[in-house]
Amino acid sequence: MSAPIKRIALSTGGGDAPGLNAVIRAVVISALKRGWEVLGIRDGYNGLLEPGAYKNGGVFTLARENVRGITHLGGTILGTTNRGSPLRYPIKDATGRIREVDRSDELIEAFGRYGIDSLISIGGDGSLAIANVLAKKGLRVIGVPKTIDNDLDKTVITFGFDTALAFATECLDRLHTTADSHHRLMVVEVMGRYAGWIALNAGISGASDVILIPEIPYDLDKVAADLLDREKKGRKYAIVTVAEGAIAKSGSRSVIEKEAGKAERLGGVGEKIAAQLQEKTGKETRVVVLGHLLRGGSPTTFDRLIALRFGAAAVRALEEGQSGVMVALDPPHVRYVPMEDAIQRLKTVPPNCDTMLTARDLGICFGD
Ligand code: F6P
Repeated sequence: MSAPIKRIALSTGGGDAPGLNAVIRAVVISALKRGWEVLGIRDGYNGLLEPGAYKNGGVFTLARENVRGITHLGGTILGTTNRGSPLRYPIKDATGRIREVDRSDELIEAFGRYGIDSLISIGGDGSLAIANVLAKKGLRVIGVPKTIDNDLDKTVITFGFDTALAFATECLDRLHTTADSHHRLMVVEVMGRYAGWIALNAGISGASDVILIPEIPYDLDKVAADLLDREKKGRKYAIVTVAEGAIAKSGSRSVIEKEAGKAERLGGVGEKIAAQLQEKTGKETRVVVLGHLLRGGSPTTFDRLIALRFGAAAVRALEEGQSGVMVALDPPHVRYVPMEDAIQRLKTVPPNCDTMLTARDLGICFGD
């Protein structure tokens, strides 16, 4: 029987996603109701690892008033980071070279110093991999799955995804009228990292003619031929939705940055595709990169609700004595799955799933 819970901590890690504040609110209210104290850690774990960098402390008490009126707000009141994982923390050695070091033991000590007995970690695969290590080192930890990319395994959906999709679809709707008026090709690049969930779902909902996703390497000659064929049939414009991680059959992923201690940054594929399609089709082409706009804004009702459900379920899991598990949506239930299982692989789009079949039945080209 483990010691009773007295003080829990909350951390948000990785890229922000609409719904983070709703989870925080649900955790704080549910935990205070049980007589537990709640501390917020700033910027992932930086508040614990680099406390000197914070004027007002790297860790602060989350009281009822701190979480009033935040359910509908994008971002995270705790701050976040997708740089400097405590498992691969970048430090400069004597020669000026960046080396990655494991600071998880230091982190465990810091939790002890603050009298924190349990942690709720809200994040994507990177944050949950850290949380899993902390759980193995003896801290009571519950994970909450977050990402606009929807690439976390063992949960039907992550919060943030629905909001990103709704906005991407609205942008595609708006681009139809300008593309139509100018008889142009519009190439729209969306986030999603190594998974095509945002591109596929928004692309179908926003009536794209072409969707390019990482799971299906594309051939731009085939895309150009498809676009010219559409033109012959009377369609004078087209919308091409491209996932940032899309890869040409003959090429590699478009990467902006890859450095020690930092996640690989993807981007630029939209520009490249637009230039090539303009040349191959002779049609005037423009590119729009939705990028971080997809991470902002107020969470949809769906995202708010699952975020609130996940937060309350995480507190119930701690109360039940669980640790090393992630809350997961398995409609109509929220269940607990081992974090270890959730981080084994990324959830990517199965090429034969019914959404893909729907897209193909609608005549959408994937360039394959
Ligand atoms: O994982 C969320 C995400 O928004 C990805 O879709 C994207 O590749 C990445 O984060 C961008 O991160 P950054 O905030 O470092 O630009």
